[in-house]
Amino acid sequence: MSPAMVVGSGEKGESDTPGNQYQKGVKQLVENGLHTIPKKYILPPSDRPATNSENSNVAKQNLQLPIIDFSELIGPRRPQVLQSLANACERYGFFQLVNHGISDDVISSMRDVSGRFFDLPFEERAKHMTTDMHAPVRYGTSFSQTKDSVFCWRDFLKLLCHPLPDFLPHWPASPLDFRKVVATYSEETKYLFLMLMEAIQESLGIKVEVKKQEEETEGNDNNILKDLEDGSQMMVVNFYPPCPEPDLTLGMPPHSDYGFLTLLLQDQVEGLQIQFQGQWLTVKPINNAFVVNVGDHLEIYSNGKYKSVLHRVIVNAMKKRTSVASLHSLPFNCTVRPSPKLIDEANPKRYADTNFDTFLAYVSTREPKRKEFLDSRKLSST
Ligand code: OGA
Ligand code: NI
Repeated sequence: MSPAMVVGSGEKGESDTPGNQYQKGVKQLVENGLHTIPKKYILPPSDRPATNSENSNVAKQNLQLPIIDFSELIGPRRPQVLQSLANACERYGFFQLVNHGISDDVISSMRDVSGRFFDLPFEERAKHMTTDMHAPVRYGTSFSQTKDSVFCWRDFLKLLCHPLPDFLPHWPASPLDFRKVVATYSEETKYLFLMLMEAIQESLGIKVEVKKQEEETEGNDNNILKDLEDGSQMMVVNFYPPCPEPDLTLGMPPHSDYGFLTLLLQDQVEGLQIQFQGQWLTVKPINNAFVVNVGDHLEIYSNGKYKSVLHRVIVNAMKKRTSVASLHSLPFNCTVRPSPKLIDEANPKRYADTNFDTFLAYVSTREPKRKEFLDSRKLSST
């Protein structure tokens, strides 16, 4: 892309669209027809995806992410699978989960209703627009549309999911089957998350001893699974329309996820890239598999053993892309801290205690970027 073309894009985009037009999102922008992207979406050269340039930091060959077969976790090969799980969380912070037991039907209904939500007229989707970070439902665009200086090429719908009876009445009532389909999907992903966390805890060598008295002791590690059962769940439906100049922008900037685990359902269109050994690796879609990644809270809980890894989304000129991310953590007011069972003289505590409110306060004062929040939690002595 020559500099002249970059300037050209910006000028054209700006004269075509008044300032607040961008708040309506990229789907609206694309539907109004455009051949170049407005300046508002053009990243500085160093932040662009650089998929084609010579000194690109995008991996030329695609390494395959570890694949974990969930059905084997409950069979005789559990010890070996736990070892693969540990390797994946330490080395990549990501893995693909197959044979996870959520039916094709539940998954295709979720994909289908997500698509139909984004097909609704803008006015219908816009009913859920708010800048309140605590809102049970939030429709928006970019990453943080009140703070991003450059916008990214994404519209989203965020839903709080747990406890369901508190939030369901706030969810979109259109399409008509939206609540029913998303409720089933959220309950099934929540259950899968809990099964995965049980395995992850075991893979960290934290044995769950069922001693009644101990369980009732406050701060006891055995309670983490119990706490996660009542924990927060946020569903993010991401929509990335085709982008006429995909080399100049991103669908999502490099970031890490805040929770314990994210279960991502991507469609067959590539876009997700993860940082691995200084390069960006594309995560190849596997039909109906979940892409699972370690979030900041699990990195803290594991005292740094498991890695919350930077990832980003690139967009493309031809195809729209939809994904559904389900983010899980402790209840919002609960403290996240390194497990006492993973701390000893050789492994001192590496992170300060934190909670979701601290995180929200942090991101609402600045542009959320990279792993700044997690870095701010690191104890300087280590
Ligand atoms: C997210 C995310 C990736 C994708 O929602 O946090 O990283 O492929 N999504 O949409
Ligand atoms: Ni993410």
